[in-house]
Formats: sequence, structure tokens, C-alpha cells
Amino acid sequence: MTELLQHQIEYYRARAPEYDEWFYRRGRYDEGEAHTRQWELEVRQVREQLHSESGFPHILELAPGTGIWTAELIKIGERVIALDASPEMIAINRAKLLSAAVEYQQTDLFNWRPERQYDMVFFGFWLSHVPSVKLSRFLESARAALKPGGRLFFVDSKGVDRAKSRTGTEDLGSDLQQRVLNDGRRYEIVKIYYDPEQLTVVLRAGGFDIEVRATDNFFLYADGRKAE
Ligand SMILES: C[S@@+](CC[C@H](N)C(=O)[O-])C[C@H]1O[C@@H](n2cnc3c(N)ncnc32)[C@H](O)[C@@H]1O
Repeated sequence: MTELLQHQIEYYRARAPEYDEWFYRRGRYDEGEAHTRQWELEVRQVREQLHSESGFPHILELAPGTGIWTAELIKIGERVIALDASPEMIAINRAKLLSAAVEYQQTDLFNWRPERQYDMVFFGFWLSHVPSVKLSRFLESARAALKPGGRLFFVDSKGVDRAKSRTGTEDLGSDLQQRVLNDGRRYEIVKIYYDPEQLTVVLRAGGFDIEVRATDNFFLYADGRKAE
């Protein structure tokens, strides 16, 4: 398990310069105009929900990557503390945002316990990479990182990306996936596709007042609070 999680970090370190191609549906992920339009519409749906509340003094972002969602969080929060294991991701995020409102820390989230509490915790496309045996501890840490009544928001993948035939992504069973970079390097990582209802039950049992929702095709997202 330790080795798998280390490979997962190495994969994202190596993928950092090409990561945004996935989110912006470029290169190998380009499925045509209609697909991109639908993807963008569903991103907008999630973004609007995220922006439905603002004015958070301190937001903790876990696994921020290249800053796609950090850029949104600085619009609804005064300060964002962003923890990622990859220095390459952090460098891209920092260079893109050039924001004094964001503080970056290189952190392995599987060896992390929060040292303080925040008004909001956010993670994008991270939960699906947390192995099931590590899920309850991760949720405990996320909960511990929130002030009473603090907001939890996350977004993740609803199902396997249709572009996978061209990206080399392959489901290997047991929550594992093979990923292939543009230059052909291959990595094995964790990827879990959750059922929204089942994940809602898990999160509520973990002390969150929350409901996981899905967009039509691409995303799961949840907006809730730390339960009292
Ligand atoms: C799928 S990307 C998501 C990035 C960003 N949140 C987004 O939505 O675009 C996963 C992120 O998790 C980071 N990561 C992988 N393993 C990690 C670990 N053990 N601790 C902290 N971050 C990790 C990667 O560096 C990468 O930035």
C-alpha cells in the first residue's frame, strides 16, 4: 500500500505539466465540441454551487494540484491554505494564480493531521484517490480540520472518462487504474467511482451533514457542514 501511494504521488508529479489537458478537454481528452460544451456546462453547475456561499476567512484545500479550484476558492475566501504532495503541482498552481491569498505546503495527506481548524475544507478529484482502507481516517482528519458548523465541499469523477481509449487508462479491478502519460510512461494508481447515495451514507456516518449529488454525466459533488 505504501508503495502504491508513493507511485500515485510520482504519477502526479510527472503529470503536473500536462494535467490541465484533462480538465480543459485538450489533446488526448478532446472528444469534440459537443462533449466539451456539456463538460463545461456541468463544471459551471458545480462552480455555481461552490460560489453559493462566500466570505470564508480561512479555507483549507487538500490536493489542490494546478489550481483549477484554488482559483475559485480565492473568490469565496480571504485565505486559502493549499496542501499537496507534489512540488511540481504547487509550482504550477503558484505561477498561475500569483496570489498572496494562497499559502502552499508540501504535505503527504496520508501522514497528515490538522493542526488547526478552518471555516471550510475543499478537495477536488481527491477522494477517488484515497484507498478504501484509508477513507475513514482521511474523513476524520477532514472533520477535525473544520470548525463547528464549517463547510465541506468536494467534487469528483462520476464515472470512467470516455477518452480512456485514447489515454491508455485501464481499470485493473480492486479500485486500481493504469494511467499513461503523453510520453508513454505507465503508472498504477487508486481510483474509486462512488455511488452518490452510498457515499452520502458514509459521510453522514463520518459526522457530516451532507448529500452527494451528481451532474448528468461527469461529476459528483457535495456541499455540506460538519455535523454538531
Ligand atoms: C487528480 S489531482 C486533483 C488536483 C486538483 N484538486 C483538481 O481538482 O484539479 C490529485 C492531486 O493529489 C495530489 N496528491 C497525490 N497523492 C497525494 C498525497 N499522498 N498527499 C497529498 N497530495 C497528493 C497530486 O499531486 C495532485 O495534485
